[in-house]
Amino acid sequence: MGEFDGKSVIVTGGALGIGGAASEAFAREGANVTILDWNAEAGNAAVDRIVSDGGTAQFIHADAGTTDGCRSCVDAAVDKYGGVNVVFNNVGIQPPDSYVDAVELPEETWDKIIAVNLKSRFLLAKYSIPHMRKVGGGVIISSASVQGLQSMGGVSAYAASKGGDLSLMRQMSLDFAKDNIRVVSVNPGAIDTPMVRNAITGTGGNLEDELISTGLAHPIGRIGQPSDIANMVLFLASDKASFVTGSYFNVDGGFMAMGAWANTVGADGSN
Ligand SMILES: NC(=O)c1ccc[n+]([C@@H]2O[C@H](COP(=O)([O-])OP(=O)(O)OC[C@H]3O[C@@H](n4cnc5c(N)ncnc54)[C@H](O)[C@@H]3O)[C@@H](O)[C@H]2O)c1
Repeated sequence: MGEFDGKSVIVTGGALGIGGAASEAFAREGANVTILDWNAEAGNAAVDRIVSDGGTAQFIHADAGTTDGCRSCVDAAVDKYGGVNVVFNNVGIQPPDSYVDAVELPEETWDKIIAVNLKSRFLLAKYSIPHMRKVGGGVIISSASVQGLQSMGGVSAYAASKGGDLSLMRQMSLDFAKDNIRVVSVNPGAIDTPMVRNAITGTGGNLEDELISTGLAHPIGRIGQPSDIANMVLFLASDKASFVTGSYFNVDGGFMAMGAWANTVGADGSN
């Protein structure tokens, strides 16, 4: 018996990275997983892995930053698996060429980041909540970020999208509590995914060195793994978290515990 036997679970950006780990983890626990991703090769490979492991999944090849992409994903989950019980609004982008200030950021890059990282949360909620209501409830979880809480330089659109994610989560938790729909967010610290690896190489960094130094910047002394986030997401989606809504959870190896100290003092207290 899996914890999510027969549940219909949507994972956006569910082919690789955090979403890939969550798709596989939900499927291992018996869920019927609908993966929305724009990377066809990775999406099909994720479904193949799940199916060869004895799980159930389908792949929807679409752009999560579009109305059609989000609506077709919900429709596919309903058509094939009979409804929607859990949405993991995970998809997110932070292209290496977006690491500039607001003056330098091209407007189309702003629009793209906001569409994928924030509008997709609204669209998935809009189209899946009517189906959750039909079965008496559901859970919506998002991948926000520690950058929704504190800031670094040069990431205006990404920071705005993550602050918006947390604000939308809180707001929707109020509107839909009466429908027994819980809405929560996870704020990952640095997690070893294609996004982080591309950011390092795309900004000219040495991959191995920076993965280690990024890990050491976290009090727990290592970079996070996608499974670290997937474990928390599965807990939040489960009935064990039935009294949890309108909150975010930092899964960050203690990074946020340092607060502004992070600028002046190392994770181990060294100056
Ligand atoms: N990795 C980290 O350190 C970190 C830290 C904080 C927050 N996050 C957040 O976690 C989430 C997942 O991050 P990740 O590191 O796993 O990312 P990733 O880039 O490694 O994987 C993202 C997945 O989303 C897909 N995708 C990207 N744009 C898409 C689009 N428009 N339509 C459909 N699919 C699309 C990609 O193909 C990929 O499968 C994001 O929201 C990110 O902002 C990540």
